[in-house]
Formats: sequence, structure tokens, C-alpha cells
Amino acid sequence: MQKQLSQYQQRINQVLAIHLQNLKHLNCPARLHEALEYATLDQGKRLRPALVYACGGALQIPEEDLDAPAAAVELIHCYSLVHDDLPAMDDDDLRRGKATTHIKYDEATAILVGDAQQTMAFEILANVEEINADDKVEMIRLLSKAAGPYGMIGGQQIDIDSAGHLPERKQLENMHALKTGALIEASLLIGACQHPAYNEIKADLSQYARALGLAFQVQDDILDIESDTETLGKPQGSDEQADKSTYPKLLGLDEAKKYRDNLVIEAKKSLQKLPFESEFLWDLTDYIASRDY
Ligand code: IPE
Ligand code: IPE
Ligand code: MG
Ligand code: MG
Ligand code: MG
Repeated sequence: MQKQLSQYQQRINQVLAIHLQNLKHLNCPARLHEALEYATLDQGKRLRPALVYACGGALQIPEEDLDAPAAAVELIHCYSLVHDDLPAMDDDDLRRGKATTHIKYDEATAILVGDAQQTMAFEILANVEEINADDKVEMIRLLSKAAGPYGMIGGQQIDIDSAGHLPERKQLENMHALKTGALIEASLLIGACQHPAYNEIKADLSQYARALGLAFQVQDDILDIESDTETLGKPQGSDEQADKSTYPKLLGLDEAKKYRDNLVIEAKKSLQKLPFESEFLWDLTDYIASRDY
């Protein structure tokens, strides 16, 4: 699994580097270009592109036809991190082992970098020649929904509003599903959507993705307590400092871990229902809940 993951990481890093390199020949201001590279080409785990490649690969879709969607998904994710770290949001100064974009550059540049990453994601999808128009529209539909006001951004709003007062369990689940789960679900669906049987497998794939996405964010909350800043590459204790609403805070650390483990079991059951086998996704499901950064 680790070997395959690092192959996916290398592949997406190259794809992203080419797209960013292309900006050099266009009319992108040099400072913005530099900051965009800074905030995109780094030590991210690239789990969302890996989901695109793995799910598409399991359905025999060629990797060349997955590069643009994988890049689009990762650009949306990178943008969410740049904005998530801003002083008005989580106010963090370290990301992926280096200074956050607003610390390295300035706040205005970080806002613009996130804006540019977001629009680049959709431009890349719109321009890709290998994918037919119907599939492209479906990808754009999935990604815009997942990233938007009743997806990731809606989740971020709930996250900000709920700091300092712990929501009920259902509301916390909704917040996690939106702020993190939505893009993870979109990654898998986008990976699958060029396949002729996409409509038939969509519901089962979503079910898998939802358990996976929730497990992912519960583990992120746990790591904020249990890991350390160097391992994480982002500030440990950020949630506690901002009095964020998290699963460990709501349930206690032990119960949060049990919940995470149950979600992994649930995710794997859903994975088994899918009409393809992927050892990589099976192992990645375990990894997502046991990772230490
Ligand atoms: C961090 O995501 C933000 C969340 C949604 C919890 P990742 O843990 O995937 O971050 P990178 O991409 O590896 O930096
Ligand atoms: C991040 O949640 C969700 C998004 C960026 C959309 P967190 O605020 O918990 O992510 P980290 O811990 O800063 O990576
Ligand atoms: Mg946040
Ligand atoms: Mg944060
Ligand atoms: Mg976190």
C-alpha cells in the first residue's frame, strides 16, 4: 500500500508541477505564481488524488484519464488548507512542515492563492481533452457540490460557529461529513464516473466514502491531541487552543477511538459490496484510521 501510495504521490506531484509551470507562460503575476507553487507543491499526503487513481484504476480507467480530476481534487484540498489556516479561521502558522502561506507571504496573498487554486481546479477539468464532455460536466458537478456551501464550505462555517460550544453528536457528524467527508466522497465518485456502470455503483461507493471520510476526520481530531507538531507538520493542540468541537472533546479519547474503529469496519463492509476488488483501498482504509500524521 505504501509503495502504491508513493507512486500516486509522485504522479500527482508531477501533474501539479506541470500545471503550475504552465502559469509561467501565461499572465500570472510572479509573486502569486511563487506563492501558488509554495502552497501546492509540498509534502501533502495526496490522499484524495490517491482515491481518484485507486478507484478509477480498480475500474480499469487509464491513469492518464485520471490525472486532471486528481489534480482538481487536490487543488481544492490545498486551497481549503490555505484558507483554513488563515488568522480569521484556525490561525495556524505551520502546515505540511513549513510556514503557512499567510506567514510565508501575507494574508492577502494567501487569500488570493486559495482563490486561484480553486479556480484552477475547475479550469483544469474544463480543459482536459482525454475526457468526454458528459463525464467532465459530471466531475465539475460533483466537485463544485462537494466544495461548496452545502459541502466543504458549509462544514467550515459550522466548524467556526461551533467553536466554544459543543454541538450534539448528530450535528458534529454533519459538520465532519461536510467539511472533510464531502471532498473524500467526491474523490471516489470522480474516480469512478468515466466507467459505464458508474450510475449503478454510485450509491455503494458513497456509502463507503462516507464512513471513510468520517473516520478520516475523527482520526484528525485524535491526532491533534495525541501526536506532536513535528510528526504532524502542523501545530498539535490547535483544536484545543481554539476550543474546537471535536469527537474526543464530545466523547472522550477512548470512545472517539472506538467510534473511529467502528467506522473503519463499516467502511470495509461497504467496500466489499462494490463490484471490484482493490487491495489498495482496503489497506488505505486501515491506514486512514491508524496513520500518525
Ligand atoms: C488535513 O487533511 C485537513 C483535513 C481535512 C483534516 P490531510 O491530512 O489530508 O492533509 P495533507 O493533504 O496530507 O496535508
Ligand atoms: C480541516 O479541518 C477541514 C478543511 C480544511 C476543509 P481541520 O481544521 O481540522 O484541519 P487541520 O487539522 O487544520 O488540517
Ligand atoms: Mg479547521
Ligand atoms: Mg485547521
Ligand atoms: Mg484538524
